[in-house]
Amino acid sequence: MPALQLAPSILSADFGHLAREIQTVAEAGAHRIHIDVMDGHFVPNLTLGPLVVQACRAATALPLDVHLMITAPERLLEAFVQAGADVLIPHVEATPHIHRVLQRIRALGATPGVALNPGTPAIMVEPVLHLVEQVVVMTVNPGFGGQAFLPEALATVRAVRRIAQARGRANLSIAVDGGIHPQTAPQARAAGADIFVAGSAVFGHPQGAAAGLARLRAALQSASA
Ligand code: DX5
Ligand code: ZN
Repeated sequence: MPALQLAPSILSADFGHLAREIQTVAEAGAHRIHIDVMDGHFVPNLTLGPLVVQACRAATALPLDVHLMITAPERLLEAFVQAGADVLIPHVEATPHIHRVLQRIRALGATPGVALNPGTPAIMVEPVLHLVEQVVVMTVNPGFGGQAFLPEALATVRAVRRIAQARGRANLSIAVDGGIHPQTAPQARAAGADIFVAGSAVFGHPQGAAAGLARLRAALQSASA
């Protein structure tokens, strides 16, 4: 299983001081930055586009994971790659052509990942597993930060890890996204996740984002010790 990585989601950051927020978590030991793109169609909420990804790119050298909660992601792949995205993560439910979309991301020079909603079974990603470096298992219904972790999604994490092992992809990263905080992260770790996406537990922490990140790291480390 790959080494543990923390991926703060800027959805809960202060957008008036975005560069500063990103630099704070980078200095506090974040491994990657998770950027939530929502189109008001695939999910009810509307967030940001390539311009904000470009601003994140200017703020950090950390890998930018761009989570595409948008219908027909094929329309915008090029724009996000040009903006500086490292990993593009479309949803398997968002296009009838997930295989082609993932091939296209690779052809554009970015790293493909794929995301699964809580109502979608793990087998949906099996035919495209060889095309991706990261599977994002949603542990809430996507659309908003600050929602409660869905424990039933742990079965999906276990199933993706099992399929990856069976296919010789022991190094595949499995990210969990939604409701990840010091109580839930160790459960996801035990199920086979290695990337922990957290928005409100980091940027919404009463003592600040660096403290939020430190708490999350400590919870994961003491669970695996
Ligand atoms: C939800 C997004 C998440 C969100 C998680 O649709 O994909 O990345 O930022 O937020 P928290 O950690 O607050 O549940
Ligand atoms: Zn996300």
